[in-house]
Amino acid sequence: MKHLAIIPGDGIGKEVIDAGMDVLDAVCEISSFDYDGELFDIGSERYLANGELLTDEDIDGLRRKDAIYFGAIGDPRVKPGILEQGILLRMRAVFDQYINLRPVTSWFPLVPLKREVPFDIHFLRENTEDFYMGAGGTFDGRRKDAHIKVKREMYELDIDLEAVSSNGDDFAFEIGLLSRGGISRFAEYAFEYAQARGEKKITLVDKANVCTHIYGMQRAVFEEKSKEYGMGLEYMYVDAMAMAMIVRPETFGTVAVPNLFGDILTDLGAQLQGGLGMGGSGNINPKGVSMFEPIHGSAPDIAGQKKANPIAAVLAAQMLLENQGYPEEGCMLKKAVRHCLDSGLTTPDLGGRLTTGEVGKAICRHILEQKK
Ligand code: NAD
Ligand code: IPM
Ligand code: MN
Repeated sequence: MKHLAIIPGDGIGKEVIDAGMDVLDAVCEISSFDYDGELFDIGSERYLANGELLTDEDIDGLRRKDAIYFGAIGDPRVKPGILEQGILLRMRAVFDQYINLRPVTSWFPLVPLKREVPFDIHFLRENTEDFYMGAGGTFDGRRKDAHIKVKREMYELDIDLEAVSSNGDDFAFEIGLLSRGGISRFAEYAFEYAQARGEKKITLVDKANVCTHIYGMQRAVFEEKSKEYGMGLEYMYVDAMAMAMIVRPETFGTVAVPNLFGDILTDLGAQLQGGLGMGGSGNINPKGVSMFEPIHGSAPDIAGQKKANPIAAVLAAQMLLENQGYPEEGCMLKKAVRHCLDSGLTTPDLGGRLTTGEVGKAICRHILEQKK
């Protein structure tokens, strides 16, 4: 029996998680997989009611689970960043889910490219560092004594702000931070992941021609690890990668990408497989509590209309099953998704007429039939 935390969250998060749980229930009926799901009330409604985002009690409760199944957060009534940082990024950080696995698969006929070449890119997005650490601030440029001081143990870094803002303008800054340890574990995971897929090289995405410090260090560590693992390493600048994903997606296998660029490239990747409603993801801590979620947000523009495509959430459930030791059951979900696409059993974003719940039920029916 697996103990799952269920966090539907906001907007279409609730709708797609409902469908995803129907699908998990169908899997229970026909396999040895079994779970109990505890619902966690985390999201904008609770925040707006009493100011709570993610409490210590929530964290204690989540820590006791085998995995977390998460919908989405985000609400137009709340200032950008509050829910995102206070809930989603906090969970990724607290549970040290340092890998964000985001597959990009050619689900024909949804691929909007001229050439019909199959691809299966597995993005491994670093999920705890880079520009996601909240290290930044805003400054009153008239203060002559303004300076940024980053201090950690023995190291102290002073930046002379006169050079940045000599005309007395107000300004804001955001620091991207990578640690050697953070890069090392990311690289090890990436090389081991590619090896397990039978690949001989990985691609590392960066902008080492501009952000020379962080991505220079990242290259050095990946270089060392590629020798250790006897694996090839190919570099791609992020701008060229965006282009190459359109022109030759089939040439990529396992792609390691830092946090911010990974966020952007995987929305592009989602569109290559039919849209945001097709992108599942896993926030993985190989030794801890992992969290599975669609890559899309709360989609306020379609929330409450039963139009949301639940397939991204179902593919997140598939990754959860795989992660928890049920790869065959995960495979059944993928087959059921394939069947729905082939039969036109889809939501309006994919040209179909079904509601979120109806697509969920169609996936369930196909899973139940696979057992017969
Ligand atoms: P979004 O992903 O919510 O929506 C972008 C567009 O894609 C919208 O037009 C939406 O209707 C469409 N879309 C998304 N998922 C869909 C689905 N399953 N089926 C059909 N169409 C779908 O991104 P946004 O509008 O930029 O952000 C809305 C809110 O969600 C913001 O508050 C943002 O911070 C938050 N957000 C949260 C997460 C998360 O919880 N993991 C991810 C991204 C954005
Ligand atoms: C995602 C989202 C999040 C991210 C936001 C909501 C913090 O866009 O999961 O892709 O940037 O990682
Ligand atoms: Mn995103």
